[in-house]
Amino acid sequence: MRLIRLPGLFFLFLLIASCTSQSFIQDKELSVEHKIEALLSQMTLEEKINMTHGNTKFSTAGVARLGIPDLMMSDGPHGVREEIKPDSWEPAGWTNDSASYFPTGTALSATWNPDLAYRFGQALGQEARARDKDIILGPGINIMRTPLCGRNFEYMGEDPFLVTRMVVPCIKGIQEQDVAACLKHFALNNQEFERNTINAQLSERALQEIYLPGYEAAVKDGNVFTVMSAYNKVRGAWCSENPYLLNDILKKQWQFPGIVISDWAGTHSTVEAANAGLDIEMGTNRPYNEFYFADPLLQAVKNGAVSEKTIDDKVRRILTVMYKSGIFNENRSEGSFTTQEHFDIARKVAEEAVVLLKNDHNLLPLDKKKIKSITVVGDNATRKHAAGGGSSGLKALYEITPLHGLKNKISADTKLKFAQGYKRTTKFTWNKGVLNFFDADEAEQLRKEAVAAAGESEVVIVFAGLNHDFDTEGTDRQNLVLPYQQDLLIKEICDVNPNTIVVLISGSPVEMPWHKQVPVIVQGWYAGMEAGNVFADILFGDVNPSGKLTFTFPEQLEDSPAHSLGTYPGQDLNSDYSEDILVGYRWFDTKKINPLFAFGHGLSYSSFQYSDLKLKAKISPEEGLQVSVNIRNSGDRPGYETAQLYLQDVECSVIRPDKELKAFEKVYLQPGETKNIKFNLKSKAFSFFDEKEMQWKEEPGLFKVHVGSSSRDIRLSGDVLID
Ligand code: BGC
Repeated sequence: MRLIRLPGLFFLFLLIASCTSQSFIQDKELSVEHKIEALLSQMTLEEKINMTHGNTKFSTAGVARLGIPDLMMSDGPHGVREEIKPDSWEPAGWTNDSASYFPTGTALSATWNPDLAYRFGQALGQEARARDKDIILGPGINIMRTPLCGRNFEYMGEDPFLVTRMVVPCIKGIQEQDVAACLKHFALNNQEFERNTINAQLSERALQEIYLPGYEAAVKDGNVFTVMSAYNKVRGAWCSENPYLLNDILKKQWQFPGIVISDWAGTHSTVEAANAGLDIEMGTNRPYNEFYFADPLLQAVKNGAVSEKTIDDKVRRILTVMYKSGIFNENRSEGSFTTQEHFDIARKVAEEAVVLLKNDHNLLPLDKKKIKSITVVGDNATRKHAAGGGSSGLKALYEITPLHGLKNKISADTKLKFAQGYKRTTKFTWNKGVLNFFDADEAEQLRKEAVAAAGESEVVIVFAGLNHDFDTEGTDRQNLVLPYQQDLLIKEICDVNPNTIVVLISGSPVEMPWHKQVPVIVQGWYAGMEAGNVFADILFGDVNPSGKLTFTFPEQLEDSPAHSLGTYPGQDLNSDYSEDILVGYRWFDTKKINPLFAFGHGLSYSSFQYSDLKLKAKISPEEGLQVSVNIRNSGDRPGYETAQLYLQDVECSVIRPDKELKAFEKVYLQPGETKNIKFNLKSKAFSFFDEKEMQWKEEPGLFKVHVGSSSRDIRLSGDVLID
């Protein structure tokens, strides 16, 4: 059926009178806006309100008589979660919901490869569609403010620019598959401790410069369809009823046309939340009709506390997202599930994520043909991580453990011995950073066995680190100490075998009191279903490492800003962000504190030389700057290098960090090959958020441009004057 385009009410009248909703919903000649208005005009208030709250744990109601289906959601962010029963958290018992398990957020960001973020997004979106989901609850981009935050592993590190570059393609990749991404957690859910009640107090400048840029880019450049409000409060108001964050910034300033979904059980009111910009309430622990956005919302509209216009706005947004996600499209993408292509993407992301932190005497890569004996130590050598960590956990189709990966790799002539070394246990307590261990005898026994085995082999590989008892939703770590007395184990192993390689499995930094003694340290992350194969590829040199840290590893916890200032975890449920804009390396650089491993650090089996830095000596305000540099692979194997550009504002009326990342480029170079890289800096890159004028401001004066291989390995610097 075709209808000629007629304006306004007459159009609506004609439309409603002359067709069934099911038919016009798909009519290609009508604009989506017209269809949405037509649908809205046929809905009762009750039907509209039904669309604004959960009707199962992970869906909201549609309006069947109008052809509007329920909206189906799933966690995120690194794979599609196991199917649970509609009304409880128990597994639904499906046998076909074992999904691809992709590397988690910290690993993805450590690739510094936006193209991989896009492919990750595509694969995730395809898996979500194949499981018939409309919204996948991810990605998560809360800035790493403290290394202790239990959910750091899900996020993308400490730098707003890096987050921006990675999150946009990830969202595009997801949404091109006819499924909505849900960007979380908006905003400042930077600690899990007291996450439901903690109140983040921070300056406008810190908000604008550090904590919001990723979200803004996701909205404006990534066109993200949905956003999840965070559990915590910001400046006294819960994020789910925070008019400044939701209405003023997100919906008005950024013109976000999509849906704000509450975090699960993160809604605290009806009228405040409805008027502050929340669109959908999820996860409340009450019968569905008693949700704040169910019967109480109906009542609030009837008594005038919330206008029907406000409800219409929410439903309009929901319908808009439904249209954009192809829900009404006959040819909606069907997605694909657990395909070889997805496994390959999981593997590729992991390959580019693993960070070689230290490689003394070029102990790595190991030579498969020469090596005769290896001892593998550690609980993480055999542990699978996919199911852990809270809401992001999933049922993986498979997960290659490190030990499995090594067995796949080594030649038949190499002897491989495994020793547990330490055991995962909950039988310990911390007393001011000191571990009280209750299984001391057993622990000693395991350690002794491992040390003995270590002494008998050519090389020892210790798979140490954390697991999802520590990197997890709902709690923060208490300190940076490796649990289960791993420090002691590593030290004793080093004492008997100088060829000790430590591979850390974690999503956040740990202290390494043994770092000087251990020649090789690798940060392996939670690297997804192919983790074990990838670690073996890296250790044996089939893959040249290219990951770079996306957050600082402090020497000790007290060195990092919130801990140095004593503002974590906050007092009386207030967390005062007094470190302000000096988050992560911005703090370490400005305060001249040496980190254990710096932001942006990551070695390769190749070496790279930087030369020919070129930039204009003088630019006018608002002109922007092009910087060009040559990078040469001076090693003997092909590899990637990520060149990073940092700006330093030398003359400024406000405090500015010593360095701020403003551009980066990952390049692949054959041995001896040189490539020229051009960085284009827009004028905003030079600016700061001026709290007096409440806008970004570019001040004239001298800037230094630093280009290097990490934030602490600057190879070339130049000056530019803004005049
Ligand atoms: C988490 C969200 C998650 C939701 C649904 C909450 O506890 O904070 O990230 O999407 O649960 O599982």
